[in-house]
Amino acid sequence: PRVAVIVVAAGSGTRLSAGAPKAFVGIDELPILRHALDGVAAAPTAQVVIVAPAGREGDARTEAEAAFGDRSDLVSVVVGGQTRQQSVAAGLAALWADVETVLVHDAARALTPPDVFERVIAEVDRSGAGVVPVRPVVDTLKRVTGAAVDEAVDRAPLAAAQTPQGFPRALLESAYATAAEEFTDDTALFAAAGHPVHTVAGDDLSFKITTPADLDRARHLLRPTAA
Ligand code: CTP
Ligand code: MG
Repeated sequence: PRVAVIVVAAGSGTRLSAGAPKAFVGIDELPILRHALDGVAAAPTAQVVIVAPAGREGDARTEAEAAFGDRSDLVSVVVGGQTRQQSVAAGLAALWADVETVLVHDAARALTPPDVFERVIAEVDRSGAGVVPVRPVVDTLKRVTGAAVDEAVDRAPLAAAQTPQGFPRALLESAYATAAEEFTDDTALFAAAGHPVHTVAGDDLSFKITTPADLDRARHLLRPTAA
């Protein structure tokens, strides 16, 4: 199938609070967006849509050219919206006519390994369902009211959702067109429209850079080990 990846990078990074929109904060000498695009560039994709903060389209284009080189003409850059959902909608509006499968990926999951993209694409292709990469929940969970613990929660049937999430393009477009509220992620929006969602294995390296501690973790992971 013809695959497009929408990379949502239009957030401000309030929780990271690093003085710039999160996608343009450096991990090592390269920004979060560049690392995310390097992962996307290793996946079999016919189009990439970067959803950038207003005024940062040129900077996004610069990172795309560094990541894609002579394949840079497969990259489109559009401006995002107030919410992540609006930013995904802006990305959907920029898809080329012949795209059949769409992946939506958080730029903030900058270290996502390329094989996760391949698993998601393969499962969309095989099943025609929406696909979410997941990890087991490792923490012990409690249901609480204020400071009081109400009950333990069995974590066995729970999973932590990551991106890239993949979809048949036409079904995702119609789900977005009819979405009447804000959803926590794209597979939740897709499921609310009545479509099935499957899981594939995610990866610990697909963690989302949200807080300064997450950025430290990414920096340590990229640091060359001493010889
Ligand atoms: N995102 C987006 N448009 C928005 C909000 C978020 O494209 N209006 C993107 C972010 O750039 C990020 C991904 O969605 O790659 C996940 O969002 P999150 O980690 O919450 O990033 P921010 O919204 O930038 O961070 P914060 O919530 O701390 O402000
Ligand atoms: Mg946010």
